Amino acid sequence: AIERTFSIVKPDAVAKNVIGEIYSRFEKNGLSIVASKMVRLSRERAEGFYAEHKGRPFFPALIEFMTSGPVMVQVLEGENAIAKNRELMGATNPQEADAGTIRADFAESIDANAVHGSDAPESAAREIAYFFAASDICDRG
Ligand code: CMP
Repeated sequence: AIERTFSIVKPDAVAKNVIGEIYSRFEKNGLSIVASKMVRLSRERAEGFYAEHKGRPFFPALIEFMTSGPVMVQVLEGENAIAKNRELMGATNPQEADAGTIRADFAESIDANAVHGSDAPESAAREIAYFFAASDICDRG
């Protein structure tokens, strides 16, 4: 089925100037960008986004990193978009990511891991709504 998923190009990848290369991976693999913007996350906004991880040992470093510079947030649309995006990203830890995935090619560490993508339909809906109004999302037909 055609789905929508939420994606972040994280501060490390924005700083490396590889936004376009990452967007190309999406577009060459059947995912269309239907909303996109650059934002600098406040601590409050980052903590709210990652609320499910609050209390985990990596949470403070995650918030520090995600607020360290601008990010791109986007909505991707396509056939099986949630799973497709996760396949393109590769494993959370770039050391474990398959060759040719975004994290294998652009990420340095489990914290600075280039991209985020929703892991399920419920989180995709929540994450999209956290950054975009329904009227911000374009119908690509
Ligand atoms: P992301 O998909 O953005 O979701 C939470 C982030 O926390 C994850 O990517 C990683 O960048 C970061 N993180 C750091 N350590 C861990 C860990 N042990 N397990 C999961 N995520 C981690």
